[in-house]
Amino acid sequence: MIVCSCKIKSDRQIADAVQTGVETFADLCDHVDISNDCGQCARLTKTIFEQCLETSGKKTKAKKKEKRRKP
Ligand code: FES
Repeated sequence: MIVCSCKIKSDRQIADAVQTGVETFADLCDHVDISNDCGQCARLTKTIFEQCLETSGKKTKAKKKEKRRKP
């Protein structure tokens, strides 16, 4: 499913980034180049990102880092 229509990025790319070690939303935006244009996809991107983190068991560590930057 396409999540970011500006950059044509999918939920699969978010999941792949989590699998490669991305643990914060800011790092995800930089690594995948998502939510860096109009920003309308930020909320959905973050929701999918957090679901991927939960699935991978990285949720707790990522939550602590996320307090520094909100989408
Ligand atoms: S839809 Fe993702 S930055 Fe515009």
